[in-house]
Amino acid sequence: MTLIKKGAEAWLFREKWYEFEVVRKWRIPKKYRIKELDETIRTHRTKHEARMISEARKRGIPTPIVFMVNLAESSILMEDVKGKTLKEVLDSLPIEKRKEMCIKIGENIGKMHKTGIVHGDLTTSNIILTDNNQIVFVDFGLSSHSNSLEDRAVDLHLMERALESTHHQMAKKYFEWIIKGYRKVMKDYTDKVLRQIKEIRLRGRYVEERREK
Ligand SMILES: Nc1ncnc2c1ncn2[C@@H]1O[C@H](COP(=O)(O)OP(=O)(O)O)[C@@H](O)[C@H]1O
Ligand SMILES: [Mg+2]
Repeated sequence: MTLIKKGAEAWLFREKWYEFEVVRKWRIPKKYRIKELDETIRTHRTKHEARMISEARKRGIPTPIVFMVNLAESSILMEDVKGKTLKEVLDSLPIEKRKEMCIKIGENIGKMHKTGIVHGDLTTSNIILTDNNQIVFVDFGLSSHSNSLEDRAVDLHLMERALESTHHQMAKKYFEWIIKGYRKVMKDYTDKVLRQIKEIRLRGRYVEERREK
């Protein structure tokens, strides 16, 4: 068993489960919460995430296979997706490949939105580029069912923000390519989303200005 990541909410391990290489996402107990409430929260989030990962997969969005959910310990056993996070690799790929990957990501975000799911935490750490060139989405803890323009725009806006903070020089280009892929699926609706994103950006700026005063 090896530890992959110690996050604020969950720890991730790589381990063997029967003949499978699996990843266990374990939501850790929080000491500062009342025990019963903490268990309820962790159980709820674990159930929700496992459900959403499976549901997205059923709808054709690449996500890990969920093998088992252990509600007693608040953990999800899922397929170990072999590869690296986009955060780690994107900037070192040949430029044509980067474009291809971004378009593919955009297409899949479009597919997600089209089937009524918003991811809720689209960052380059939550997208894995596999050793055989597939992209896989993980971390559905904040995902939800929605068809609203606002939720879809927020989803993409967060992706853009994440790109700006981790791949700043190329962020604009990457996002443009993602939108190119998104448009393949969402067609003219994409323009509505882009207008909404613009509004969200302005709203953000307004809040920042108010904060500075
Ligand atoms: N099924 C998986 N296969 C391989 N790596 C994974 C898998 N799920 C998560 N990871 C890795 O673990 C990291 C943290 O998982 P994630 O679900 O994003 O948890 P957190 O909520 O702490 O961000 C991911 O960024 C990814 O590198
Ligand atoms: Mg994550």
